[in-house]
Amino acid sequence: MRSLYRHPLAAVGGSIIVAGSVALALLMARDFTAHTENPYRSLITFFGLPALIFLGLILFLIAIRIQVVAARRRGEQVHFALRIEPTDPRYMRNLWLFLGLSVFGILSVGFIGFKGYEATESVAFCGETCHEVMEPEFVTHQNSPHARVECVECHIGPGASYFVKSKIDGLRQVWAVTFDTFGRPLEGPFQLRPARETCEECHWPESFFGSKVTTATYYSLDEENSPWSIVLLLDIGKESRTADPSGIHWHMLTENVVEYIATDAERQEIPWVRVTRTDGSIGLYTKPGQFIPQLNDPDVEIRNFDCLDCHNRPSHIFEQPSDAINVAMASGRLASDLPHLKRAALTLLLDDYADRDTAHREIDQGLMVYYQRSDPDVATHRAGEIQAAAQALVDIYDSNFFPEMKTDFRARVNNSGHRSSPGCFRCHDGTMSDAAGNTITNDCNSCHVILGLGEGANPEALETNLTGVEFEHLGTIGDQWKTRLCSDCHANFQGF
Ligand code: HEC
Ligand code: HEC
Ligand code: HEC
Ligand code: HEC
Ligand code: HEC
Ligand code: HEC
Repeated sequence: MRSLYRHPLAAVGGSIIVAGSVALALLMARDFTAHTENPYRSLITFFGLPALIFLGLILFLIAIRIQVVAARRRGEQVHFALRIEPTDPRYMRNLWLFLGLSVFGILSVGFIGFKGYEATESVAFCGETCHEVMEPEFVTHQNSPHARVECVECHIGPGASYFVKSKIDGLRQVWAVTFDTFGRPLEGPFQLRPARETCEECHWPESFFGSKVTTATYYSLDEENSPWSIVLLLDIGKESRTADPSGIHWHMLTENVVEYIATDAERQEIPWVRVTRTDGSIGLYTKPGQFIPQLNDPDVEIRNFDCLDCHNRPSHIFEQPSDAINVAMASGRLASDLPHLKRAALTLLLDDYADRDTAHREIDQGLMVYYQRSDPDVATHRAGEIQAAAQALVDIYDSNFFPEMKTDFRARVNNSGHRSSPGCFRCHDGTMSDAAGNTITNDCNSCHVILGLGEGANPEALETNLTGVEFEHLGTIGDQWKTRLCSDCHANFQGF
C-alpha cells in the first residue's frame, strides 16, 4: 500500500499540493481582509492556485498509476480493498478524517469556484487585468453615465448560455493577448447580445417617453473663440399608451419593427431598410444608385434595428476634441479669452503621439511655445492661465485618447446624432425612398425643434420660441448645410 506512492513524481506532485494549499490559504485570508479589489490577486487566488493544486493531484495519481503498473509487471498482487470495519477504532478514526476532509474539500472547491466566478465578473477584472488592451474602454466607462453599471450587465447579461459563451470567447482573448494578435484599435464588429436582453433589463421601452432639452455652447475657430449657443428640444417619444406613438423612440415601440442591411462592418453604409408598422403595413426603402445585396444570400445579415444602432456609445464615449474643449471653455477650465485658444487646443489634441508620456510633454509645452511664437505679449503676461489651460488639455487627452491602442473618437463613431458621422442620416438623409417616392424624413423639425440659437456663451439668455426657430450655421458656410450632409464637412480628422 505504501509503496504505491513511493515514486519521485509523487513527491513532486505532493509537494505542489502542499505548497499550493498553504499559498491558497494565505491568499484567501488576504482576500477576506483586503478592502480593495485587486484583479491579479483574485486571479492567482481563485484560478492560478486551484489549477496548480489540481496539477499536483494529477502528478500524484500518475505516480500511483506507474507504481501499480510496475508492481503488476513484477507479478505482484495489487488490489484496492474497500471494507468498512466499524470495530477497528483506528480505521474508524481515519474514515471520519477522510469524510471530514472530503466535505471540506468540496466546500472549498465550491467556494473557490464561486469566488473565481465573481472575480471574472468584476469591473476591475474586465477593465484592468489586460491593462493595455482594455484601457480605452475602461477609462471611458468610468467617465460615462453608466460608470456604476458593471461591464457584464451589457456584455454578458442574464442566463447561463451567454455566460458560458463569454468565457469561451474569453479564452480566445487570452490567446490573442498572450501572442499579441489583437488589432490596435480593436476591430469590430462587436457582436453584442440583442439590447432587449441587456439594456432593457434596466430601461423599459414603454416607459421612456417625453422630451428632453439639451443646451450647448460652441466656440468658434476665430481669434476671439466667439461663443455660439443652441437650445434643442429633442422629441424622444410620446406617451405610447395613450397617444399615437411617435418621436425618436418610435423605432423601439414594441409593435414597430425596423430591419436593415449594412454593407460594411461598422454599419455605416445602409442601402436597404424595411419597416413593419403597428397597423401591419410594410414600407421598403432603398438608396438610389447603391448596390443592394441579395436578400436570400446567406452571408447577408438582415439586422433588427435596436437600441445599440443609435446608442452604440452608451458607455465608451470617446469625446470629439471640439466638444470636450467647448465644455472646458464653458466651465472656465480653459480661459476662453486667450486668443485663438480653440484652434491651438484642437491642433495639439489632434497631433499623433507615440505614447501617453510624449503626449503629456508635448501638450504641456506646446501651448506655451505656440503663444511665445504667435503672441509673445500674451505668453509673458498670462503665463499662469496658459499653464492651467495646458493642464486642462492634458486631462481631456487622458480621458479620450489612447495612443498605445490607437483608439480615440476617430476609431469609434457615435451613431446617436448626425454631425460628426452620418448617424441618423444613414437612413434619414432624405434620399432613401420607397417605390412610391416617399422618403424617410429629413425635415429638421421631425426629431427636434431648435428652441433658440445665437451668439453668446449663455444658452439660458437666448430668446427662445417653443414652435422652433430656423437653423443657421455659425461662421461663413452660409446655406451649404441645406445641400450637404453635416458629416461631409465635419469629417472626423478636423475634430469638430
Ligand atoms: C451600458 C452598457 C455597457 C457597459 C456598462 C460596458 N460596455 Fe463595453 N460596449 C458597449 C457597447 C454598446 C459597445 C459597442 C458595440 C458596437 O459598437 O457594436 C461596447 C464595446 C466594447 C468594446 C469594443 C471596443 C469599442 O470601444 O467599441 C470593448 C473592448 C468593451 N466594450 C469593453 C468593456 C469593458 C471592459 C467594460 C467595463 C469596464 C464595458 N465594456 C462596459 C456597452 C457597454
Ligand atoms: C444595470 C442597469 C443599466 C443597464 C443594463 C443599462 N443602463 Fe443605461 N442607464 C442606467 C442608469 C442608472 C442611467 C442614468 C444615469 C444618469 O442619469 O446619471 C442610464 C442612462 C442611460 C442613457 C442616458 C445617458 C445620458 O447621457 O444621460 C442612455 C442613452 C442609456 N442609459 C442607454 C443604455 C443602453 C443603450 C444600454 C444597453 C447597451 C443601457 N443603457 C444599459 C442603467 C442601465
Ligand atoms: C460646408 C461645410 C459644413 C457643413 C455642410 C456643416 N458644417 Fe458645421 N461647421 C463647419 C465649419 C467649418 C465649422 C467651424 C466654424 C467656426 O468655428 O468658425 C462648423 C462648426 C459647427 C458647429 C460648432 C462645432 C464646435 O464644436 O465648435 C456645429 C454645432 C455645427 N457646425 C453643426 C452643423 C450641423 C448640425 C450641420 C448639418 C445640418 C453642419 N454643421 C453642416 C462646416 C460645415
Ligand atoms: C433611433 C435611434 C434610437 C434608438 C433605436 C433608441 N434610442 Fe434612446 N435615444 C435616442 C436619442 C437621439 C436620444 C436623446 C439624446 C440622448 O440622450 O442621447 C435618446 C435618449 C435615450 C435615453 C435618455 C432619456 C432621457 O430623458 O435622458 C435613454 C435612457 C434611452 N434613450 C434608452 C434607449 C434604449 C434602452 C433603447 C432600446 C430599447 C433606445 N434608447 C433606442 C435615440 C435612440
Ligand atoms: C436603419 C435606418 C434608420 C436609422 C439609422 C434611423 N432611423 Fe429613424 N426611421 C427609420 C424608418 C424606416 C422610419 C419610419 C418611416 C416610415 O414610417 O415610413 C423612421 C422614423 C423616424 C421618426 C418618425 C417617427 C414618427 O413620428 O412617425 C423619427 C422621429 C426618427 N425616425 C428619428 C431617428 C433618429 C433621431 C435617428 C438617429 C439617432 C434615426 N431615426 C435613425 C429608419 C431609421
Ligand atoms: C432623424 C432625426 C433628425 C433629423 C431629421 C435632424 N436631426 Fe439634428 N439632431 C438629431 C439628434 C438625435 C441630435 C443629437 C442630440 C444629442 O445627442 O444631444 C441632433 C443634433 C442637432 C444639432 C446640435 C449639434 C450637434 O450636432 O450636436 C443641430 C444644430 C441639429 N441637430 C440641426 C439639424 C438640422 C439643421 C437638421 C435638418 C437638416 C436636422 N438637425 C435634422 C436628430 C435629427
